[in-house]
Amino acid sequence: MRGIGRANVWLVPGALGLATAGALVLSLPRGRLWAALLFVGAWIWTARYLIARRREQRFLSESVVQLNDTVERWASGDLHARVYLDQDDPLDSLAHGMNRVAEVLMERTRDLEQDKKQLEAILTSMANGIIILNHGLTITLINRAALQMFRVQESSVTGRHLLEVIRDVRIDDAVHRVTRAQGTETVHWSPPDSEAVVVEVTIASLPEPLGGLGAVMVSRDVSLQSQLDRMRQDFVANVSHELQTPLTIIRGFTETLMEEDIDQESRTRFTRLIHEEANRMSRLVDDLLTLSRMEHHSLPFAVEGVDLLVLVESLVSRLAPRVQEAGLTMVCQMPAGLPLVLGDADRLQEVFLNLIQNAIQYTPAGGTITVSAQTDDSGQWVGVSVEDTGIGIPSQDVPRIFERFYRVDKARSRASGGTGLGLAIVKHIIELHRGRIEVNSEVGQGTRFTVWLSREQEGDDR
Ligand SMILES: Nc1ncnc2c1ncn2[C@@H]1O[C@H](COP(=O)(O)OP(=O)(O)OP(=O)(O)O)[C@@H](O)[C@H]1O
Ligand SMILES: [Mg+2]
Repeated sequence: MRGIGRANVWLVPGALGLATAGALVLSLPRGRLWAALLFVGAWIWTARYLIARRREQRFLSESVVQLNDTVERWASGDLHARVYLDQDDPLDSLAHGMNRVAEVLMERTRDLEQDKKQLEAILTSMANGIIILNHGLTITLINRAALQMFRVQESSVTGRHLLEVIRDVRIDDAVHRVTRAQGTETVHWSPPDSEAVVVEVTIASLPEPLGGLGAVMVSRDVSLQSQLDRMRQDFVANVSHELQTPLTIIRGFTETLMEEDIDQESRTRFTRLIHEEANRMSRLVDDLLTLSRMEHHSLPFAVEGVDLLVLVESLVSRLAPRVQEAGLTMVCQMPAGLPLVLGDADRLQEVFLNLIQNAIQYTPAGGTITVSAQTDDSGQWVGVSVEDTGIGIPSQDVPRIFERFYRVDKARSRASGGTGLGLAIVKHIIELHRGRIEVNSEVGQGTRFTVWLSREQEGDDR
């Protein structure tokens, strides 16, 4: 090909030069011969030129076909295709340039694919749900958390309209408002079958330059937070109510006492009632403080090997007068040789005191209270049961009796001075011991509470 290039330059003037020289030598002696020779030379020269041109054109068209094929392959996504031409080919530098462009494109595509994979991995592993919608409000992207939060059964919902996937017109309306007004809005969503689950959905419009995307929805599960808010509100309302009752009574009696014409006997009775109500308030505040300290782990908690036999027997003898006063019988069936359990003796005493007091309180005269103990099959757990033959707990109330202030019969509990916090404290103490409590109850037959505590192992810290 190099020869052809040079021939291109010299062939035309060379052939013309030979033809001109032929014309000039015609007048010379033997001019015809010379002219014929020069003419033949010019003719050969021109023929070479034409052949060279044809070859050049054929090479060029082959190179163009190669370039064209390569571009076609790139267009169909095969960026690995390259074009290699003869280094004398005039299109060779163009081919080199195109190959470099393909390299750069491949690198960029690799980077973009990596970015896309990273983004997908981040979106998939995010605890928050993400849904990206286009302008027609069809789903462009939805991550796993969003599918789970909105209880979507199908795994592939991209391309479908939002309302088809999350059948909630409030969310759909909010998305419309947000995309129209270019702002953000927050909506709370709960599945139709569970009010306790609350998902907070924040919808934000996306600006125009983002390639036709309309809005992004970020959702997070705020069920626990909502439940805690509700519990806090209930708690404040309950405490206020519990304090309100004794305070009203105290105010009423003190107003009566302030009247002058009141006899000594009534004065003594009213003073005693005020004292009782003040005691009830004091107990309530003490119980609340105990609970609060336990929750904040600021209550001293000693870990030692506790002999439940000694602990329960001392409680039983302490409570014997009250049992007798209530017309009940108490039976203690604690086997000898019970393994020690790991815990805080004072706190565990509080647990069994509460359970036995409840048994006394909710068992009519003539009934029996039985305190017994056993180890489980694995030998790792020691269970102490407090069983009564009392009024029992309706099955629908059983799951709630450990809640603060929850009482099956409010009037009865209040009449006996109860605060409704006893079992809440019991549950907390057992949780601190990593134990568990079981309840079996039959209305009119009686109730059995069993506390399971971990036995002390060799090498346990004391
Ligand atoms: N042994 C039992 N038999 C029947 N009901 C019981 C028994 N123990 C508890 N309960 C029910 O569970 C409720 C909650 O008990 P809890 O000990 O927490 O509160 P309380 O006894 O009412 O007041 P206190 O805070 O003084 O103990 C009681 O009000 C009662 O309705
Ligand atoms: Mg109680």
